[in-house]
Amino acid sequence: MENLLEKIVSFSKRRGFVFLSSEIYGGFSSCYDFGPLGVELKNNIKKSWWDEMTRKQENIVGLDASILMNPKVWQASGHLTAGFADELVECKKCHKRFRLEEIGKLKCPECGGDLTKAKKFNLMMKTFVGPVENEAATTYLRAETCQGIYMNFQNVINSMRLKVPFGIAQIGKAFRNEITPKDFIYRTREFEQMEMQWFCQPKSADKFFSYWKKERVNWYLNLGVKKENLRVKEVPKNELPHYAKRANDIEYKFPFGWQEVEGIHNRGDWDLSNHSKHSGEDLKYEGYFPHIIETSVGVDRSFFAFLCDAYSEVKGGRTKTTKSAKEVETVLKLDKSLAPIKAAVLPLVKNKPELVKKAKEVYQILKPHFATQYDEVGSIGRRYRRQDEIGTIFALTVDFESLKKDDLTVRGRDTMKQERVKIKDLTSFLKEKIEK
Ligand code: GAP
Repeated sequence: MENLLEKIVSFSKRRGFVFLSSEIYGGFSSCYDFGPLGVELKNNIKKSWWDEMTRKQENIVGLDASILMNPKVWQASGHLTAGFADELVECKKCHKRFRLEEIGKLKCPECGGDLTKAKKFNLMMKTFVGPVENEAATTYLRAETCQGIYMNFQNVINSMRLKVPFGIAQIGKAFRNEITPKDFIYRTREFEQMEMQWFCQPKSADKFFSYWKKERVNWYLNLGVKKENLRVKEVPKNELPHYAKRANDIEYKFPFGWQEVEGIHNRGDWDLSNHSKHSGEDLKYEGYFPHIIETSVGVDRSFFAFLCDAYSEVKGGRTKTTKSAKEVETVLKLDKSLAPIKAAVLPLVKNKPELVKKAKEVYQILKPHFATQYDEVGSIGRRYRRQDEIGTIFALTVDFESLKKDDLTVRGRDTMKQERVKIKDLTSFLKEKIEK
């Protein structure tokens, strides 16, 4: 679709998905806030991932480690050395800074000026703990959530009596001092990761790498992401992250091209052996270091991919009967488990108090069970389109027949088909459709 990126950015603001952080001060450093519908979508993505990676699996447990850790963690993990640094070049004329990898040329892409020689720029976000701002008080905001998992490897085994192979899953914020954050929420300095670390015998690492790659691709497909917008790329040896023996990127076809949305990594014994060496603690399991297969996806980045994939426009509108026929109609075809609002309750007209009263009663019945909206403003056709635009699964209309028969019409977002359902059966009817 033409101008999809611009459309998504303006749609996200207009309909309460994503706002610029500190907007009244002109924004801040590529930080974004998730609005009322954005936070629902984000929570639904996290719930889907959590259920997929813990509830549906045999041997995976959860964790929530702290963001701030002993800085020795980052020394041992290799993040404070050259491994976790981008090559930065600066334009001698306009002084803009770029990642060398990103521009791959000798002149400034903005003004054509000469560039400085590339310097290594570490991506860890530094901060101070306590009242004194000196070297001893320096630590870092975590750059990947998985280090908190390695720190708790023994605690989890001992408290949960787990046996290899097993996994630990975690969702949480991570921070990177990216040189060029860009493309809306694709690359930001503060983001959220959903990571699962699978500890296995070295000899079974390849088998599990393939297994988890397939599982993770299926997660997107089962959530309705179009197959043609998804692919897996083998990361060439010379581009591997410093901790990985092998990496595959799951890529999504964003409006600005194919880009990584999730990484599948074979980290070998890099983390457990380095943390053993640096801490003096023996992190072996039954005499060996388990190898680690990692799946790592950004909440914000997958949010962006789900939005791009679901956003559709119908020129002239889907219904030919009303004025909308001349408009472009937007339908957000999010999977039912991801849609921020599951049901909208609409009185047919707002100037009939009996209809409004009944619709409000239905709204109160549904609210504890589903994310539900009540809307009485504008023509019914316009209200349907407003709900279709944010991906609401069902629009429920209370009309004059409802007053006699104690029922209402249920209209599906994708089919636009309407059927009458008794109000007493509504909750179980919707549960069946939305949760199955
Ligand atoms: N623990 C491994 C790890 O962090 P990564 O490939 O650097 O691997 C994994 O990051 C995922 O985290 C990426 O695929 C992306 O979805 C997300 N991510 C990484 N950096 C990001 C950034 N600056 N902004 C938004 N998401 C990011």
